[in-house]
Amino acid sequence: MPYAPLTPSAILSSLLLFSSAAFLAFAAACDGGDKAALIEIKAAFGNPAGLSSWTSGSPCCSAWSGVECDSTTGRVTSLTVFALNVSARVPPAIANLSALQSLNLAYNRLYGPLPAFLGPPHLPDLSFLRLDGNRLSGRIPATLTVFDLSLVGNRLSGPLPPSFAGATFGDVDLGDNRLTGDASFLFGHKKKLNALNLERNRFEFDLSRVQLPKVMDILKIAHNMIYGRIPAEAAHRKWLQFDVSYNRLCGPIPQSKYIQQFGASHFDHNKCLCGPPLAPCS
Ligand SMILES: *[C@@H]1O[C@H](CO)[C@@H](O)[C@H](O)[C@H]1NC(C)=O
Ligand SMILES: *[C@@H]1O[C@H](CO)[C@@H](O)[C@H](O)[C@H]1NC(C)=O
Repeated sequence: MPYAPLTPSAILSSLLLFSSAAFLAFAAACDGGDKAALIEIKAAFGNPAGLSSWTSGSPCCSAWSGVECDSTTGRVTSLTVFALNVSARVPPAIANLSALQSLNLAYNRLYGPLPAFLGPPHLPDLSFLRLDGNRLSGRIPATLTVFDLSLVGNRLSGPLPPSFAGATFGDVDLGDNRLTGDASFLFGHKKKLNALNLERNRFEFDLSRVQLPKVMDILKIAHNMIYGRIPAEAAHRKWLQFDVSYNRLCGPIPQSKYIQQFGASHFDHNKCLCGPPLAPCS
């Protein structure tokens, strides 16, 4: 008989083996340099009560809230300090967490400029960055080419960096800032951008010239100074969200059931957009 029968106790012991291995892996010692950087970040944040689990005597990968590590290297891969009312600049010690893939500091009171280390080359693996709902100001640095980028609800100003033209983005959320100028270089048939939010800024560019990315299903550009026409190919995207209201657009609205699901409020207050759900084109 080639195989031993799979008894309940054999199943149980293999489960136990598996789970203790998983636990050991999970508890891989936290990288010493990363731990020192986190302690410095906690101090820079004013030692908020929400980070009371961050103590030098406990393992940072398993015991510290908002910290996740690579199970084999013990390097910090994910840091979340969300809605803790932290009032500080973005701490330079974050640049020491060079294996970071995900950084979420949303809904605090962070102020000052966006540091250039929030992206390659300092943080080459960073692919998720959320800083929405803070008070960050100044321009967006050229290095912030992070795949999933949210800077919604800050005080950022000036034009987008030209480096964004060649970057690979999946999700770009820049709403509720004071950004100006051109954003058309974020578009392109072959781009991987599936969600773009530019709402309530001062962007000004010709929408007729953009090629909608094939994967795009969220386009929120309301409350800007965007002109030209809605590209005809908008009729061929399965929109989940679409809002172009309060701009300077003109011409017929491309017609499809995915466009038609949105009411007039998503098209209103433009220069001369026409056709359903707005008034017929004359
Ligand atoms: C961060 O990195 C810099 C440069 O490598 C080093 O001088 C500094 O001591 C590090 N800070 C911490 C808190 O580890
Ligand atoms: C947030 O922090 C500020 C000081 O930075 C303080 O005045 C305010 O009361 C805090 N808010 C909450 C909800 O803790």
